[in-house]
Amino acid sequence: MTDYRNLIKEAIRARENAYAPYSGYMVGAALLTNDLRIYTGCNIENAAFTPGICAERCAISKAVSEGSLKFKAIAIAGSPRGEALTRYSYPCGVCRQVMREFVKPNDFFIIVAKSVEEYQVFTLEQLLPESFGGEQLSV
Ligand code: THU
Repeated sequence: MTDYRNLIKEAIRARENAYAPYSGYMVGAALLTNDLRIYTGCNIENAAFTPGICAERCAISKAVSEGSLKFKAIAIAGSPRGEALTRYSYPCGVCRQVMREFVKPNDFFIIVAKSVEEYQVFTLEQLLPESFGGEQLSV
């Protein structure tokens, strides 16, 4: 079984930087690339609300902007500010679709974590079945 401990630790650490003055909900993500780099991200909210970005897409944007496009897994940790990680924080639909852009759904793992001991692992295929991808646009 793959050891996700370090990736989970990075997600929990990244959550500390969440900028969430409006919802108070803090999320951290850590994205593992095929060449074993880790890009972290946190949610970044905005007074105008719609410009806000989720932790997962923050991490993916950092990776892609650095030229890294091949991903193995992402760990996610989220809970309200000041609360322990007592619940699983699942990725929103928009983030699932953005993951779908860069990976094969049955070969990318989403680790939803409360701690390095307590976590769930899904493939993107499980969380986004029958999905829409670029190949559908080819004529
Ligand atoms: N959020 C994430 O960062 N990731 C998700 O997948 C779900 C939601 C953030 C967005 C917003 O800043 C806060 O959590 C409440 O929705």
